Amino acid sequence: MEPIRPPKRLPDHSREALPDFVQRQFDAASPQNDHRQLYGILQRGIRSAVLAAGTQLPPSRVLAQVLQIARNTVVHVYEQLALEGYVQAGVGRGTFVAAVGPRLADRSTAPRPALPPDRSALLSRRGSQLVREAGAAPLQWGAFTPGVPEVRMFPTAIWSRLQARAARRQTPAQLTYATGPGDAGLRQAVSDYLQGTRGVVCSPEQVVITSGTQQSLHLVAQLLTDPGDKVWLEDPGYWGARSVFRAHGLQLEPVALDDEGMAPSPAQLRQPPRVMFLSPSHQYPLGAVMGHGRRQQLLDYAAVHGVWVVEDDYDSEFRYGTRPLPALQGLDTQGRVVYLGTFSKTLYPALRIAYLVLPPDLVNGFAQALNELFREGQTVQQAVLAQFLSEGHYATHIRRMRAVYSARHDALIHAIGQEFGSQLPILGGDAGLHLVLGLPPQVDDAAVAQAALRAGISTRPLSLYHLRQPAATKGLMLGYGAVPEGEIGPSFARLAQVVRGFL
Ligand SMILES: Cc1ncc(COP(=O)(O)O)c(C=O)c1O
Repeated sequence: MEPIRPPKRLPDHSREALPDFVQRQFDAASPQNDHRQLYGILQRGIRSAVLAAGTQLPPSRVLAQVLQIARNTVVHVYEQLALEGYVQAGVGRGTFVAAVGPRLADRSTAPRPALPPDRSALLSRRGSQLVREAGAAPLQWGAFTPGVPEVRMFPTAIWSRLQARAARRQTPAQLTYATGPGDAGLRQAVSDYLQGTRGVVCSPEQVVITSGTQQSLHLVAQLLTDPGDKVWLEDPGYWGARSVFRAHGLQLEPVALDDEGMAPSPAQLRQPPRVMFLSPSHQYPLGAVMGHGRRQQLLDYAAVHGVWVVEDDYDSEFRYGTRPLPALQGLDTQGRVVYLGTFSKTLYPALRIAYLVLPPDLVNGFAQALNELFREGQTVQQAVLAQFLSEGHYATHIRRMRAVYSARHDALIHAIGQEFGSQLPILGGDAGLHLVLGLPPQVDDAAVAQAALRAGISTRPLSLYHLRQPAATKGLMLGYGAVPEGEIGPSFARLAQVVRGFL
């Protein structure tokens, strides 16, 4: 900043009437407090050069009198302007407008280069593709938003009690930057839980805590692939994985499904990918369950060709009737499987806690990258969750929610039957938090979803989950997890009315 020398001649408007200039704009009845108002008037005046460099501000006493406000307010405004470089003050010398230079000057009136008409042109190629083909729903609540659990039944009282206890016990290490793979107690509890319920073969040391499957996928992409590597994705499949892999410049190869999920063609098998991403226990979104034989084939293939198998086990807790097959990870003897789990469905999505179970020799690299790239935190929250699991509240909550979701699942099947009989197929199996209502191939499912949204019902078109658009099967994803049983019938009736308009 240049030093200020009082100018020989002040601009006329400022010499004669700076207090008037302020007074004209000052509104005693404004809802803004005096400080903010006065600061705004002076700052705008300086930035737009209406108050030229070198202009002397009136003494605080004078301005306070003119505006009928506290003198301290004026003093504080001058101090703030001085701190930010808009004015310079010398003891006994007065306060003068500084030469603010281009950083602080108001450039709103300067001619600007014409912006390209399409703002998305500002993004990189992969950035614009990511935005163009984004899959996340604009609404994350209400009938029938997919993927959302019944967060209103979360046992808040128990959680608050554990939280208060954790807060009393918290250590400095929990409040500074995290340095490892996550809270030790939570890694232990997750490992116990997965071994007991999912047949995952692991030690607590293989568990790395992340802030969501999305983050787990970022780590997978960053640590196990290079730009241009090929990744096999189920088609249709999870848009979240597609977006992360695309954002890392990977070559996405859709793999068609059969009634056991991912079914690579002979031609695809001849060109191994770097990573295969799959949801073998409850294929997302169509619900196929991969049998033991296919699992073993894919694992053998991965071992021979050095492929990483990324298993997304996002909702296995919720099966209604049949027991879930154990995780694919439990069959892996070659250290090729990266297992992904999350608390988003069993507890609530905004908790943002999930985990990876890694082959032992990957753990250090992942933990280091986690700290290096994301500076993980939420350590106290992780400790609370560890207690929640180890004291049995997690298992109780899952049991309770399984019964709730099972009733909602049945209510939705019943409602579909009432409206359409067997005219439209229902896909998705007897598990999870959503079903798919199949639509005839000529129906534009995106248009149906849009029309449904206008009628107050949120669904997602099945075609959105496809990489190969021409081959897309048509349908609507219907999440029932967050819809009370009594609302399912009336909400579906409203949706059915919209759907009939397209059949
Ligand atoms: C297939 C699938 N996997 C994983 C997740 C969980 O993601 P996160 O842990 O980032 O909430 C979701 C959530 O919608 C999902 O649909």
